Amino acid sequence: MHTLQAIQALRDVLAEPRQRGLRIALVPTMGNLHAGHLALIAHARKRADVVVASLFVNPLQFGPDDDLDAYPRTFAADQAALENAGCDVLFAPRAQTLYPNGFDTPTQVRVPDVSEGLCGGSRPGHFDGVATVVSMLFHLVAPQLACFGEKDYQQLAVIRKMVADLHLPVEIEGVPIMRADDGLALSSRNGYLSAEERAAAPALYRTLCALRERLTQGESVNTVLGDGEKALQDAGFSLDYLALRDSRLNPVTAYTREAVLLAAAYLGPARLIDNLTLELPGC
Ligand code: PAF
Repeated sequence: MHTLQAIQALRDVLAEPRQRGLRIALVPTMGNLHAGHLALIAHARKRADVVVASLFVNPLQFGPDDDLDAYPRTFAADQAALENAGCDVLFAPRAQTLYPNGFDTPTQVRVPDVSEGLCGGSRPGHFDGVATVVSMLFHLVAPQLACFGEKDYQQLAVIRKMVADLHLPVEIEGVPIMRADDGLALSSRNGYLSAEERAAAPALYRTLCALRERLTQGESVNTVLGDGEKALQDAGFSLDYLALRDSRLNPVTAYTREAVLLAAAYLGPARLIDNLTLELPGC
């Protein structure tokens, strides 16, 4: 595996496979890799000839109250895990390389509408930072394919809209959420949980499953969501949001069939997110 920091080195390494018409896949990450990230690499490995992972903790997507400084940096372990997973190129640029003019007034990509509300409501500017860095990576790597986890459902929707609106020549593939045996969605932020909080954390998934069951049976959305909020608070979560949206994150209507139930909640210092897709019954 090539490990590269410089843009020119990345372009040089990819020039030859590109010229041979090989298919290049990109898996963007912020490091602190777990089995969920490695599933993205495995997916990319099956769908492309050359797998590039990026590792960059992107300051632009962290707000003033976010955990940028505390965000775990585990470069050596990440590099070894990527190599074992069959990644070909690791691109790990410095902040100064991606943002040569600093962070005060960088050029930014904003994806309106889908970036607003849910995580975008509680983390203003977050998805502008994500869209900006992902579009930079798309320009630098020029992959035919890019893989993102479905755990970050809104992020995936933002990236899909950005790609459609800007006519970027890259296919976006969502990869299903990886869960621990007790159902907790794998996340770098699970590392912030104490043993006691970790034991309580699967209640988020269990609650979503119970709510999904009731929604698919046609119970009133408001009643189900109200009960869900109470159940999560009783389980020790401080709720950010619990919402039912259509699969494109628009509000549900009487005609919505494909829907997604999304939640973000704090457990101690960790902000956990999760989602489940479901089919709503017809009238
Ligand atoms: O999901 C992430 O880890 C990040 O938001 C991403 C897509 C790598 C952009 O920094």
